[in-house]
Formats: sequence, structure tokens, C-alpha cells
Amino acid sequence: TAPDKKNTTAKTRDLESYKSDATGQPLRTNQGVKIADNKNSLRAGSRGPSLLEDFILREKITHFDHERIPERIVHARGVGAHGYFESYADHSSLTKAGFLGEKGKQTPVFVRFSTVQGPRGSADTVRDVRGFAIKFYTEEGNFDLVGNNIPVFFIQDAIKFPDFVHAVKPEPHNEIPTGASAHDTFWDFVSLQPESAHAVIWAMSDRAIPRSLRAMQGFGVHTFRLINAKGVAKFVKFIWTPKQGVLSLVWDEAQKIAGKDPDFHRRDLGESIELGNYPEWEFGVQIIDEQDEHSFDFDILDPTKIVPEELVPITPLGKLVLNRNPDNFFAETEQIAFCPGHIVPGLDFSNDPLLQGRLFSYTDTQLSRLGGPNFHEIPINKPVCPFHNNQRDALHRTTIHKGQAAYEPNSIDGGWPQETPPAAKDGGFESYYERIDAHKVRERSASFKDHFSQPRLFYKSLSATEQLHIAEAYSFELGKVKRQHIRERVVNEILSNIDLGLAGTVAQKLGIPAPKKPTIKVPEPSLKQSSALSQMKLT
Ligand code: HEM
Repeated sequence: TAPDKKNTTAKTRDLESYKSDATGQPLRTNQGVKIADNKNSLRAGSRGPSLLEDFILREKITHFDHERIPERIVHARGVGAHGYFESYADHSSLTKAGFLGEKGKQTPVFVRFSTVQGPRGSADTVRDVRGFAIKFYTEEGNFDLVGNNIPVFFIQDAIKFPDFVHAVKPEPHNEIPTGASAHDTFWDFVSLQPESAHAVIWAMSDRAIPRSLRAMQGFGVHTFRLINAKGVAKFVKFIWTPKQGVLSLVWDEAQKIAGKDPDFHRRDLGESIELGNYPEWEFGVQIIDEQDEHSFDFDILDPTKIVPEELVPITPLGKLVLNRNPDNFFAETEQIAFCPGHIVPGLDFSNDPLLQGRLFSYTDTQLSRLGGPNFHEIPINKPVCPFHNNQRDALHRTTIHKGQAAYEPNSIDGGWPQETPPAAKDGGFESYYERIDAHKVRERSASFKDHFSQPRLFYKSLSATEQLHIAEAYSFELGKVKRQHIRERVVNEILSNIDLGLAGTVAQKLGIPAPKKPTIKVPEPSLKQSSALSQMKLT
């Protein structure tokens, strides 16, 4: 298939039908009545009080009063773009998912990049993880790959997510700091929760101040499954690698840009697409056979661990091209609703306890963010394939269902939406036939407790300049922490176990005694490189 330069993808065509062009049209109320005067409200005399009967004034003000919807609880600030995914080949030996089943097959996508901590109006270039969420509008339904630009997460279990976010967000008494992690509650939590050490050191690295959203990697973070038509499953990690290279700002630039142009990243993305300089990423997977599930010294279900590329190289499957800016930020970028639970036949989850919690959280929050259970009917969220079922009614329903019966089986309407057996071509979704035989427990597998080997591997694989940037980032951030015991705990109980040199440099910059030895014994990493570090080029 030739690249879709005119962008007449299925999703673009679908969205066209919702667009409204008001050029040259008469001004009307929402009930269609033409408006004669849009400048003066109805009054009792030219100097008298306004009249309640002025339905034109009331409708206009009422609608305005309700223009804002709640921002996302996390990842509130974002920017989006349309594009397409193209499969490099027929990957049906790996997965029966149609969007990967044919060489050159193109699938429309919408991507939203975001920061995590700050509100909708915060600056783009703050030190933070970046969200990298892709909605694939496949012919078999929507697949959402809701990832980040760093490969690991701060916690291992979804039950800690509300605690983590309460610690990261601005402090409740004064709503400070906006868009940054340099404050007591964040460092208090992460120093008491050593499982965060790996994600925190990535957040203190140059990866957390990208030069451009076009120059970031993306990671699915969790282990997922791909399943082929024969029912053979492989574990996979999803990785996006930008053809633009991986580029970062330096901290001084990032801070100045945050003041001078808080929209730096969204402007860069929008302008680059406008100029026809379409950003591209290669989509790859690290593939792990089922029988190798336990052959690593970490658990592949642990989202605070990477799978080093030296152990499992990346297999490229396709590419992503972003080639069209949204027409309307609110309708598209703000109303899009991603959920890691949106998958299609040929994919499945793993038992990563963070992923399992995420499967529930997104749709749940969207019920309040987008006003009830019908947000799948909002144009940007609708699949490109037709969908029929017996779900009915609720707030903001737009579909007009015909017929009398909304249940199956029924003998009234002469036919209802039918199940599709999974074995059929274009078959129905079937969960992977995984055997589970276990006691119900609240515990994690043993290797989840090794919190420092991989941060050490990451730190050791960086250049001296990158290591210095990390020391400076910790020192800057901890310099804003008011409580001495929190600063000391980060240095003594976290950094000393990652690298004594790093702990010493940060201690010196903070004016506290340098730790003499680690508090726990951490195995020395046997590998030289951490995942995908070869991608990094400093500007
Ligand atoms: C957004 C929950 C972990 C990536 C969100 C939202 C919630 C949430 C409630 C707002 C969704 C909305 O309003 O539409 C959680 C929970 C997590 C978790 C409970 C852990 C238990 C992660 C991880 C990643 C991630 C590990 C990356 C792999 C994102 C992204 C968005 C997001 C990219 C923004 C999506 C968009 O652009 O609309 N998350 N999250 N989250 N989350 Fe998570």
C-alpha cells in the first residue's frame, strides 16, 4: 500500500462526517432559531434589568458555564496528532491481529503525548515522565497502547498508585509545586518505597527533559502477549524508537524554555506536521517464549524492570507516522479516552499486578471525566468497524437503536447481534488459555524485591556527562526539599545502593556527609548496557 499522503484513512473519513463548518452560516440557537441580535440582552427599557425570558442569553451563558470538563487525574497536559501505523510484513506467525498481518497494511492512529504531574496549563519542558499513548483504529476494534517514554514505572502494584500520585501531585495545603517533582512529599514517598528507585533515576536522567516529543522513545512498560491463529502465545515488550533520534535538552535550557515558551513541545509537534516534516517511529517488540518466562534474574511481570536488549533484542514490526494535526483540541485531544484494556484478538495481557489494576482504572475515571458510560460514541473514540450489542441508554446516548428487543436470545426482532467463535476468520476475542492454579495471597514474587541492580545497571551504562546530569538533577530536586531527614534518606538509603560515587556527589552538593557504604548488598550487573541506551544522543 502506498503511503496515505492524502490521509483518507478510515478514521479521518469517519471524523469528517462530524465536522461543522460555520462559514457564512446564519447564527442560530442550539434549537435552530436564527438570532437577530447577539450584542444586547433583553431588558425592561434601555436602562432596566435583564429579563428571565431571554432564552437566547440564558442558553449562551448556560452553555459557557459548563464548557470545562475535569482534567485527567494524571497526564492532564497533552498534545495529540493523527497518523497511521504500517506493518513491515505479514507477522501472522506471531499474532493473528489483522493490523500486523500484511506487509504494507496501514491502520489509522491517534497519538497523545503528555506530561504526568502538572495540570492542563503547566509548562511542556518540566522534568517529568512523558506519556506516549496510541489508539490504533483497527478493522477488528480499537487497540490502545498506553505507554510512557521511560521503560519502567515507580511502583510494582496498582494498589500503590493513589499513594504515589498523591505524593507526586502538588502538595495539598498550598498546591505547590506545579508541574515538578521537587518537593517533600514526592521524595518522602520514593525514599520510603525503594521499588521506585529505578524509575526515579530515569526521571533524573536526560530522558525526562526531551528536546522534542518527536525525539523520544516509547515503551509499553508491562509485558504483554501476542497470540497467533494456532493459539501459540509469546510474551512481548513494546518499544517505539524515533527515526529522529533520541534527543534531550539540558536542564538550564529546559528551565528557561519553560518560562519563555511553555508550549514549546506542542508547538514543535504541530509545526513540524504542518510543514510536512512528519515524525516517524519504528515499532518493535522484545519477544520471550513462554518456556523462558522464568529464565531471567528478574520477573518479567515486574514493571520496575527492563528486559535488557543484550538478552532479548528488539524485533522491528512496523512504523508509525504522524501526519495530521487535530482540527479541534477539545473534541479530539481532550476527549480521547485511552485504556490499556482496549485490545484486539491476537493480543492479551500478562499478570503484571500494575497492568491488572490499570485495566480497571482508565474506564472508571473516564466515566466521570467524560460524563457517563457513552463516551465510546464520541467521534474520536469510536472504532472504525461497526459495533452492535444490547447495551442501551444512559447519559448522552447518540445512537438510535431500532427494534423492540435489547436482549438475546429474543423472538421478536428476528435477529440479534451474533457471537463470533474465536476460531472463525476475523474471530471473536478469546482470552489466552492460561492455567492459573494458586492460593489467593497478597504478596509479590521474590525477585520483585531486588530494587537496585537495574538502577545500577542504568547508571553504569551512561557516559560521564550523563552521569553528571543525573547527580545535578538529584541535587537540584533535593535542594528544594525542606526536611533534612528526607534528603538524607534519599542519599543514604537509595543512592548509596545504586552507586556510592553518585551518592557522594549528591551528598557534597547538599552539604551532608557522604555515605561510606551501601545499606544493602546489591549484585553487580553483568551486562554493560541498559535497554536502548544506544539510542541516546546529547544535543
Ligand atoms: C493516564 C491510571 C500507570 C500511562 C491515566 C489516567 C489514569 C491512569 C486514571 C487518566 C485517564 C483519563 O482520564 O483518560 C493509572 C494507574 C496506573 C497507571 C491506576 C497504575 C496502577 C501507568 C503506567 C503507564 C501509564 C505504568 C505507562 C506505561 C498513562 C498515559 C496516560 C495515563 C500515557 C495518558 C493517556 C492520555 O493521553 O489520555 N493513567 N496509570 N500509566 N496513564 Fe496511567
